[in-house]
Amino acid sequence: MKKLQFETRRFLMRLYRPGDYAAWKRAHEVMFAKQNEFDLEKKTVAELKPAAFRKFLGQTERHRKSQVIFHFAVFEKKTGRLMGVVLLALVLRFNVQSARLSYSIFNNYWKHGYGKEVVEAAIAFAFKKLKLHRLEAEILPNNRASIGLAKSLGFVYEGIRRGAVYFNGRWHDHVIYSLLAEDRGIKNTKPSVFQG
Ligand SMILES: CC(C)(COP(=O)(O)OP(=O)(O)OC[C@H]1O[C@@H](n2cnc3c(N)ncnc32)[C@H](O)[C@@H]1OP(=O)(O)O)[C@@H](O)C(=O)NCCC(=O)NCCS
Repeated sequence: MKKLQFETRRFLMRLYRPGDYAAWKRAHEVMFAKQNEFDLEKKTVAELKPAAFRKFLGQTERHRKSQVIFHFAVFEKKTGRLMGVVLLALVLRFNVQSARLSYSIFNNYWKHGYGKEVVEAAIAFAFKKLKLHRLEAEILPNNRASIGLAKSLGFVYEGIRRGAVYFNGRWHDHVIYSLLAEDRGIKNTKPSVFQG
């Protein structure tokens, strides 16, 4: 089984654990109020109770076991602070070898280059360790920060997926950006099995 974690000089990305409650609670407490429509909602005191974290943890576990979404929590190594999350979702094997990549950094840490550092490491993990061939980022068309980040990492615009996501009471289109192993000079020709 491949180890489901990866790191950079400053950050460790790994699956959530029961002992992460304090870091999770603190991250939500110190984040700013919601900054834009793509940002996380700030949680209330009641939503930060241990039971809420256990429920969240259970959900991430179910996602992992069903191999639908792998939630990689982003921890700053020096401080142990929880900084955000990177998700690898819909990992398809056989002759497809693709996954959907998404990311979120707590808003009090935006614009420090953290997102780029963390997502760059996720890309290397996906292509080099998991031997995937294709990563997709599905982004709301007006999410400038996310599009900027994807483009800065070499993701290429492919088109629009119509009516792809429901939120705020209606269906929204997504813009699709993709990155191939070859775009990073990696030749992943031999499929391998992803074990969570
Ligand atoms: C998208 C997000 C992860 C970026 O994180 P970040 O740590 O602030 O990003 P970085 O500081 O590493 O910036 C990397 C690049 O992203 C782009 N970028 C970041 N914020 C941007 C903004 N507000 N507008 C335009 N481009 C932006 C820039 O190209 C930037 O490179 P540059 O600073 O050299 O110009 C963060 O804004 C976030 O979590 N947003 C809310 C959740 C979200 O939208 N997730 C994506 C869902 S698809």
